[in-house]
Amino acid sequence: MEAIITLLPGDGIGPDVTVSARQVLDVVADKFDHSFEFHEALIGGVAIDAVADPLPPATVERCEAADAVLLGAVGGPKWSDPNAKIRPEQGLLKIRSVLGVYANIRPVKIYPELAGASPLKPEILEGVDLLVIRELTGGIYFGEKTRTETSASDLCTYTVGEIERIVRVAAKLAEGRTGKLCSVDKANVLETSRLWRDVTDRLLAEEFPSLDVETLLVDAAAMYLLSRPSDFDVIVTENMFGDILTDEASMLAGSLGMLPSASLGDGTAGLYEPIHGSAPDIAGMGLANPCATIASAAMLLRHS
Ligand code: IPM
Ligand code: MG
Repeated sequence: MEAIITLLPGDGIGPDVTVSARQVLDVVADKFDHSFEFHEALIGGVAIDAVADPLPPATVERCEAADAVLLGAVGGPKWSDPNAKIRPEQGLLKIRSVLGVYANIRPVKIYPELAGASPLKPEILEGVDLLVIRELTGGIYFGEKTRTETSASDLCTYTVGEIERIVRVAAKLAEGRTGKLCSVDKANVLETSRLWRDVTDRLLAEEFPSLDVETLLVDAAAMYLLSRPSDFDVIVTENMFGDILTDEASMLAGSLGMLPSASLGDGTAGLYEPIHGSAPDIAGMGLANPCATIASAAMLLRHS
């Protein structure tokens, strides 16, 4: 197999962990007779420093021309002035949006060797093997933002089409696993969540009647992730809830440094990144755990 892979190391430990993942991909290529062509491009703070743009057009071109994109991490104290107009994270949100990768798959699996690293009791962790499907290109992350001296606002919008396509991805994955699907929302408060629930209930009843469906409010889901994590199989949720719940879920695996992710759209190309941040305090010291990025590279081989 021949493939073009764009590497976006980014900031902080991003370069450390992508180098390790690339080494693994090189060995895989050698062993199984693949040929991977790697191209590196700028994103995040390093791109702001180089060309005053967290996602330069040259990077977008490189990503669009690739079969898959492997990203390290973006952000750091150097660029995190709350009043800054240009931020590294804008580059990450924009590349997700430009590539149309609306389905972010975050598997949470416990490696028995690491069970002791989790703050939870071993008996609670037994049998944990779940997938969080996070909607990645909509919701409050992408709505209009306002700021005055005395107030600020972030608009959260979802369309029926955006909800349908992510729920379909989750339902298909659930069909291939144990048939259990949990949808997480905040339908007792948010209008977007009431739409989410209506669309989800209808679509699952019509298209996936055999699935065992559970619906949870996000606050309860946050609690159950700690009290009964092994009851979950596939969880589907909106952008911000998915962000928060997956950092929480990483503690089941013992470390934020263990969770990979795949972001997919309608085609086979995808964006692969660890769920962790740039950990600037340990950047360049050979201390960062590269497992999440290596596992993201494994997802890249599987999905793209
Ligand atoms: C993640 C990260 C990003 C997000 C940040 C860096 C913008 O926390 O991928 O979970 O919030 O999506
Ligand atoms: Mg996050």
